[in-house]
Amino acid sequence: MFRKVEFVKPERKSDRLWGGRFENAPDARFDAFQRSWAFDRRLLPYEIAVDRAWAKALQGVGIFTEVEVRQTLAALDKIAERAQNDVAWLDSSTAEDVHQFVENALVEELGPLGWKLHTGRSRNELVATDFRLFVIDAVAETRRSLVALLDGLLLQSKANLKTPMAGMTHMQHAQPILLSHFLMAHAEAFSRDLARLENAAATADACPMGSGALAGCSFAIDRAALARELGFSRITANSLDAVSDRDFALDTVFALAGIATHLSRLAEDFVLFASQEFSYVVLPEEYSTGSSLMPQKKNPDSWELLRGKTGRITAALFSLFTTLKGLPSSYQRDLQEDKEALFAAHDQITEMLSVAAGALAGSKFRADRLSAVVSDPTLLATDAADYLVHKGVPFRQAHDLVGKLLSEAEKQGKPWTQLSQGDMQKLSPLFEGDFLESCSVESAIASKSVPGGTAEESVRAAIVQLEQKLKQLENKP
Ligand code: ARG
Repeated sequence: MFRKVEFVKPERKSDRLWGGRFENAPDARFDAFQRSWAFDRRLLPYEIAVDRAWAKALQGVGIFTEVEVRQTLAALDKIAERAQNDVAWLDSSTAEDVHQFVENALVEELGPLGWKLHTGRSRNELVATDFRLFVIDAVAETRRSLVALLDGLLLQSKANLKTPMAGMTHMQHAQPILLSHFLMAHAEAFSRDLARLENAAATADACPMGSGALAGCSFAIDRAALARELGFSRITANSLDAVSDRDFALDTVFALAGIATHLSRLAEDFVLFASQEFSYVVLPEEYSTGSSLMPQKKNPDSWELLRGKTGRITAALFSLFTTLKGLPSSYQRDLQEDKEALFAAHDQITEMLSVAAGALAGSKFRADRLSAVVSDPTLLATDAADYLVHKGVPFRQAHDLVGKLLSEAEKQGKPWTQLSQGDMQKLSPLFEGDFLESCSVESAIASKSVPGGTAEESVRAAIVQLEQKLKQLENKP
C-alpha cells in the first residue's frame, strides 16, 4: 500500500502541464499555433466524465482517499455547471487544451489535490477516450437525423405508391417504374448508411484509459470497471495501438461521407425534376430562392447546396486519411488534427439532413407530368420483346424484331403502338391481337413483381421491411 504523506504544494515556475524541464516559455506564435482549446473545448463534458471515473479508479488502487474522491467529484460537478452557464469563462481561458483547462479549474477549486488526478495517466489516452465518447454520441445524433429523413422518404413513398414515372438509365427513357420505387431506392441507400454508422459506433466503443502515454498504467487500476463506468462495453487491447488508433474517426467520417454522397444523388434528382423540362416536382417555397434579376425564378437552392456541401464531408475524410498517412506508431501531435475534420463533418451532416428532410417533406410531385412522360411508348419496348419471349422467341431475336418495329414506326412518323396489326405481323406473325394490351405501363410495372422489383406489391413489401427495420432500431437501447 502507499504511504500517505502530507501533500506539499511544490513551487511551479510554469502554468503548463509540462513546464518542469523547460527554462524558456514557448514562442508566442508557436504557442498560439499549438493550442487546441479553441476546438477541443467541445470535449469538455467527456473530459469531466473521464476525470470522474479516473478519480474512482485511483481510489481503487489507494492513491485517492474516499474524502479526496468526494472532494474531486464535487469540484468536477462545479466545473461542469459553471462551464454550462459561463461561456465567458471558457472564452477567456488561456489553457493549452481541454485537459489543461480542467486541471487548472480543479487546482483553483481544490488546491494541490487538483494536481493529483493526473496520476498514472496521459493526455494521449485522455484525448483518445474523450474523442471516442464524443463520436459515440455524435453517431447516435446522426442516426436520429437519418431516421427522420427515412421517415420522410417512407411517407412520400406511401403517398405516391401507385404513381408511374419514366425510369431512366444514362438519363434516357428506359422502363416505367413507380415513383414510390424511385423514392425507396434512395431510402435503401440511406438505410445502408445507418448500418455504417452503427459500425462506426461499435469501433469507437472501446475504452483506452489505462493505456498511459503508450505503455500502459503502472497502477493496477480496474480497466474494465472504468470502461463500464464510462458506458464503454469493452477496453482497448493494446496500449500502444490505443494511443495511435483513429480508425473510429475514419469509420465515422466515412459513414458521413456516404450519407453526403447519397444526399447529393437525391439532390441532383430533385434539381433535375424541378427543372421546367421535367416539371416532375414542385419544391416548397420555404426551401427555394428567387433571383435578384429574373422575377420568374424559383431556384432549387436547398438541393443545390446539399449537393455542393457534400464536398466538405468528402474533404474531411481525405483530411483525416492524410493526417494518418505516414505517422509512426504511438501518439504524435499530428493527431490533434483529427478533431476539427470530424467536428466539421458532423455539424455539416446534421444541417444537411435536416434541410433535406424539410425540402423533401414540402415537395409535391406532379402526377400529371409524370404520367404524360411515362406514356412515351418507347418505354415499353422491352416489354414488347418479353411478349415475344413468352411466345418462344429467343430474346436476342425478339430484341431485334422489336427494334425493327420501332424503326418502321419511326419511318411512318408515329408511335409504334399505333402501327397497324398488318404492319406488325409483316415483321412477325407472333404479334397477335393481345399484343398491345399486354404492353401497357400498368402491365409493364405489374410484371416486375420479383422481390426488389417495381411492381406495387414488391414496393409495398420493401416499405414494410424498412419500417420494421426502423422499428427495431427504435427499440434498441
Ligand atoms: N491536444 C492534444 C490532442 O488533441 C492532446 C494530447 C496532447 N498530448 C501530448 N502529449 N502533447 O491530440
